[in-house]
Amino acid sequence: MSTTLAPYALGAAAVTVALNKIQTRLQLSRAKHPSLMGHSRMARRVAALVPFYEYDEAAFFRSDDAPPEVAAQRRAGFMRLAALYRERFAETVRATDEVEESISDLQFTSAYRVPFQYSRFVREHLKAGSFAAASSGIHVTDLDGNALVDLTGSYGLNVLGHDFYKACMEAGAERVRELGPVLGPYHPVITYNVRRLKEISGLDEVSFHMSGTEAVMQAVRLARYHTRRTHLVRFCGAYHGWWGDVQPGVGNPLPARETYTLTDMSERALRVLRRRNDIACVLVNPLQALHPNAGAPSDSALVDSGRRASFDRAAYTAWLRELRAVCTAKNIVLIFDEVFSGFRLAPGGAQEYFGVQADLVTYGKTLGGGLPIGAVCGRKELMRRFRADRPTDICFARGTFNSHPLVMATMHEFLRRLETPEVRACYADLDAVWNARAERLNARLREAELPVQVGNLSSIWTVCYTQPSRYNWMLQYYLRAEGLSLSWTGTGRLIFSLRFTDAEIDAVIEAFVSAARAMKEDGWWWSSGAITNKSIKRRILREMLAKRF
Ligand SMILES: Cc1ncc(COP(=O)(O)O)c(C=O)c1O
Repeated sequence: MSTTLAPYALGAAAVTVALNKIQTRLQLSRAKHPSLMGHSRMARRVAALVPFYEYDEAAFFRSDDAPPEVAAQRRAGFMRLAALYRERFAETVRATDEVEESISDLQFTSAYRVPFQYSRFVREHLKAGSFAAASSGIHVTDLDGNALVDLTGSYGLNVLGHDFYKACMEAGAERVRELGPVLGPYHPVITYNVRRLKEISGLDEVSFHMSGTEAVMQAVRLARYHTRRTHLVRFCGAYHGWWGDVQPGVGNPLPARETYTLTDMSERALRVLRRRNDIACVLVNPLQALHPNAGAPSDSALVDSGRRASFDRAAYTAWLRELRAVCTAKNIVLIFDEVFSGFRLAPGGAQEYFGVQADLVTYGKTLGGGLPIGAVCGRKELMRRFRADRPTDICFARGTFNSHPLVMATMHEFLRRLETPEVRACYADLDAVWNARAERLNARLREAELPVQVGNLSSIWTVCYTQPSRYNWMLQYYLRAEGLSLSWTGTGRLIFSLRFTDAEIDAVIEAFVSAARAMKEDGWWWSSGAITNKSIKRRILREMLAKRF
């Protein structure tokens, strides 16, 4: 090339590189979900701007401009519930009050049961307490002796019934009584656990941790170490624990710099995976199949009736297969985060259920047989924490309590029982059984002309609302009055154990319908006919702006 042309050639090359970069960046932007949740940084900025304000007693009952007689009806219903709660949950609430100021987690969960504008008034009058004394069958008994039907699922741990885990804990404690709290050396029960986990995951090696969050941290760290790439991909709305890198949006004081949040079930996301060379791994939480691109549904965010949930097994299976193929082609580590879905959708978890093999799988919750646990299973070459040719280039992961004898023993009991015909029977026709149960409730709700329906992924249900309203979160309090216990996230997630019999489900359905009927009779679902989800959101925005300026 002549020397006079050299600068042009260099210039052309620079322009090509710049254009390529712009295109890659644009592609990434297009692969983000259009919601605020799809834009983590913006979500954090917006969240930081939302001012606190709350409704006084009068506005509490009329935040949708209901006429005075409807507000009076709501107030009467609310005060009736408050009187019932005061009487029925007296000791449980007293015990809760005694520690609430000293347990930060409790303050957080109490404050975020309903949208913040209503929270203080609700806390003053509808406290049910956060203590429990006993569990048996499908019930948890509080300090007042109320046996409530447990739909909390203990955050997903409870796949096989309280009594099952109590038996695992008891037998496990007995098994390792002689060794006690010795850490470092393993108790022999670990050998069986490792063998079974390898069989269940279809992978070569196992590492034990103390929580699901830690298992995810380790899986991502391994993927980064072995690929020598920086970024993880998570899908919009998916929860993977509270570690900073997997929680890039609201809730994390720092932005996650090495995380891409992409649209779930989207060809645009696949395009990003195909094009970029900095992606170490893709994290999948199979629970998102119930509500792709939406966050874990919680009643604190139930400001209108926009919550949606519906599960399309064929579509999600096809998506996972495509994702698998792209990850394989690009040497991206595909991580299934089965902390929630493991052992629930099938004995072999989401991998078995959707028929897709991941490179690394995380488990937690129920695997501990009732005790705290996190585990990673993976392909041999991905699990290795050192390099044969570079002895000081290691991937460190430890943890004082990993492989604790008691946890290994309860896990042993869990895995052993999982193979028994009695437990295998709980998994028979899971989809057919649980879809029919959800549909039975939906049919009853439709017949009774109540504006509520549930969506379900097997035994995990989400309550959705079919008519715009600002008060849907009140349903959790009516449900409790009917003896149904939900977790602090309210009607967003009802988690059943697989032990529920048809008769028990029918009782839940009756209680649910009674609760919704009482709520309707108390006027909470009154509508002017002009209210829409959009108008509700607009109104809240106006209230916030008025507060701020
Ligand atoms: C899919 C998933 N991953 C990770 C976690 C975090 O597990 P842990 O709460 O044990 O840290 C959770 C917890 O809900 C989860 O559902």
